[in-house]
Amino acid sequence: MAIDPLFSVAGKVALVTGGGSGIGAMIARGIVERGVRTYITGRNADRVDAAAAELRGQQGECFGLVADFETRGGVAALAADLSAREQRLDLLVNNAGTNAAGSLAEMEEADWDLVLGVNTKAPFFLIRELLPLLRAAASPEDPARVINVGSIGGLHVPNWEAHAYGASKAALHHLTRSLAKALGPDHITVNTVAPGPFPSGLTDVASEAVKRSVASHVPLGRPGQPEDAAGTVIFLASRAGAYVNGHVIPLDGGYIAAL
Ligand SMILES: NC(=O)c1ccc[n+]([C@@H]2O[C@H](COP(=O)([O-])OP(=O)(O)OC[C@H]3O[C@@H](n4cnc5c(N)ncnc54)[C@H](OP(=O)(O)O)[C@@H]3O)[C@@H](O)[C@H]2O)c1
Repeated sequence: MAIDPLFSVAGKVALVTGGGSGIGAMIARGIVERGVRTYITGRNADRVDAAAAELRGQQGECFGLVADFETRGGVAALAADLSAREQRLDLLVNNAGTNAAGSLAEMEEADWDLVLGVNTKAPFFLIRELLPLLRAAASPEDPARVINVGSIGGLHVPNWEAHAYGASKAALHHLTRSLAKALGPDHITVNTVAPGPFPSGLTDVASEAVKRSVASHVPLGRPGQPEDAAGTVIFLASRAGAYVNGHVIPLDGGYIAAL
C-alpha cells in the first residue's frame, strides 16, 4: 500500500543516537523501512555495525557510527564523522541515554556527571555541532527536525529513587523549549518524546516490578511497542508534524494523565 504523502519521510537523512538497541532501534527500524537513510550510533564498533546491517536488511539504508557521549570530544567526533559523509541532516533523534543507580545517600558526583553528561549535555552539544547540516536541510515548508527522547521520569517522581536521571530528563525537556525558540527562525523544530515503560536494556518489562507498575499505572495496561515509538517519530518527522514545535509528548499509554 502506498504511503500517504502527509506521513511520508522517504528520502530524508537521519541520525539516531543509541539506535543499535531498545527504543532507538525501534525508531531506526521504522524510518529505515520508510526510505530514510539512517545513521545509528553505539559505543562498540562491532555491535553498532551488526545492528546497522540487521536494520538495513533488504529494505533500506542504515549505517553504524561509533560514539561515546561521556565526553565533549566524543560528541564532536561524531559530528565530524557524520559531516564527512552527509551534506544535510533532516532528522536528529537524540535517543542515547543512561541511568545510575543510587539513593540520595549513595549517589556520587561521578554518577551525576555521567547521567547529566550523556542525557542532557550531549544532546545540547550534538545539536550545536550539527547545526550546519540541519540548516542545510531546513526550509519553511519542511523544517529540519530535532527529536529528543526524554522520559516520564522527567515529568513525575516515581516510586523509586532516580534523582539524577529524573533531573537530567526534566532538564532535557526544558532545553527542548528553549532550543525550539532559538532555532525556530532557522526552520528547525525541536520536540521531545517522553516514553513510559518500553522493553529495552534500561527497562526489563518482564520483571515483576515493571509488570506491577504497568498494571497499576498504565491505563492501556501494556508496555510500549516498536510501532508506538516509530509511529510518533514518523509523525513528527513527516509533513503532518511540521508545525509541532517546542513540546514534550508523553508516550506512555496514559500513565502521566492518570496520575
Ligand atoms: N525503556 C524505557 O522504558 C524508557 C522509558 C523512558 C525513557 N527512556 C529513554 O529512552 C532512551 C533509550 O533507552 P532504552 O530504554 O532504549 O535503553 P537501551 O536499550 O539501554 O539504549 C540506550 C542507548 O544509549 C546508548 N548509550 C548509553 N550510554 C552511552 C554513552 N555514554 N555514549 C553513547 N551512547 C550511550 C547505548 O549505546 P550502546 O550501544 O553503546 O550501549 C544504547 O544504544 C534513553 O534516553 C532512555 O532514557 C526509556
